[in-house]
Amino acid sequence: MNTRDTLKVNKDGHLEIGGCDTLQLAAKFGTPLYVFDEAHFVRLSSLFSDTLKNAYGTGEIAYASKAFACTAVYAILKKLGMSIDVVSGGEFYAATQAGFPTEKIYFHGNSKTLAEIEMAVGGNCGTIVVESIDEVSAISEAVAELDKVQGVMVRLNPVVEAHTHSFVQTANKDSKFGIEMGSTELDDLLERISIDNHLRFDGLHVHIGSQIFEVEPYKVAVEKLCEYIKKLADRGVKVKKLNLGGGFGITYTDADPQFKDSDYVRFISEISAKLKVSVVKYGIDKPELIFEPGRSLVGEAGITLYTVCAVKEIPGVRKYVSIDGGMFDNPRYALYGAQYEVVAAGRAADKKTEVVTLAGKCCESGDLITKDAAIQPVYIGDTVAVLSTGAYNYSMASNYNSNPVPPVVSVYKGNAEYIVKPQSYEDLFRNNVIPDRLK
Ligand code: LLP
Repeated sequence: MNTRDTLKVNKDGHLEIGGCDTLQLAAKFGTPLYVFDEAHFVRLSSLFSDTLKNAYGTGEIAYASKAFACTAVYAILKKLGMSIDVVSGGEFYAATQAGFPTEKIYFHGNSKTLAEIEMAVGGNCGTIVVESIDEVSAISEAVAELDKVQGVMVRLNPVVEAHTHSFVQTANKDSKFGIEMGSTELDDLLERISIDNHLRFDGLHVHIGSQIFEVEPYKVAVEKLCEYIKKLADRGVKVKKLNLGGGFGITYTDADPQFKDSDYVRFISEISAKLKVSVVKYGIDKPELIFEPGRSLVGEAGITLYTVCAVKEIPGVRKYVSIDGGMFDNPRYALYGAQYEVVAAGRAADKKTEVVTLAGKCCESGDLITKDAAIQPVYIGDTVAVLSTGAYNYSMASNYNSNPVPPVVSVYKGNAEYIVKPQSYEDLFRNNVIPDRLK
């Protein structure tokens, strides 16, 4: 377990998060329950921002909201003075509901709708990260109507050759994201932006992958980008900002590196150092450096609490522990075969003597949370905690099998309060309509 001050085993042998006993949280709020360790999120967010400032100087951390978006998180980020990335009208809306300053928003997406473009432009979104000429034209029209200037960045596909590093292969040629670096499409796009009085070209964006534990792929990307920025500079195109995306890894199980604060500091510092060197090497202006972390800021801040509803042992095969949640609150096993660390919340100090498969309640064999995971003995009615569920769980939740999405409780210095209230059955069916002819 990647323990910390705010995630540990307490004197009663129970799992504790944010100063709250998880058994008490389960009793008070019910299960399934997402729990969000606010202090951990704030600490890491500040650490990332401070490190970038110290290591590089000019730039910012833009939290990737897709990892976990809710109004309270946007409110925290507003207080911290950070920026955010959004990828939908929904995320933009939630941020504005929280009073988040829209000029600090980067609006992403390979398939933005006209309504989203108009929402971003009309809502004074600071930067729209564009991926095509058609999109640029749509933005231009929307901006012209309002007679203002819109900041845009261009998402590149750096297309790093397979032999450079396996991780960067995610940015391969065959991708729906970004425009290939060095392509004529990109030249045309940059030209289109430069001749438009309503658009301001702010710089370039790349995102090379996710759950990355090695710094090398980022350095490879930086080198390629600086080489390209030099070519652009020679043509008179100035790149003010360079956004390297997110992707830093987190600990899900003991099989992953146990990243501590110092590892993230090392990542940001080494990439910053590499950029500083490359800027000098290619004789280009030093761009502002932006990182867009999602998972690394919220992933380990979140845990999910469940109640065991059934236990079934198939002798010689496997022990299934079925819980009151499932792929509707965490689809990551079903989607990616993701594995998690699990803890019997009330016996957290005990040895993990069992190996169980944590199964969800959906009518689907693939509805597991994690397969063959070590855990303390568990019985029906027990509270089980699944760790590192803060990223891409709530944000990817669904109402499959008409299960309500669990609420989210923020824990901070021993206090717990809702930041997302429970969904009721009424909420689920609120928008259902029975046409008169069926009555
Ligand atoms: N920026 C861009 C443009 C991205 O596409 C992403 C993630 C991020 C930033 C944040 O990356 P992070 O720091 O969180 O790795 N649903 C998958 C993850 C998909 C990530 C998509 N893009 C999962 O559950 O693992």
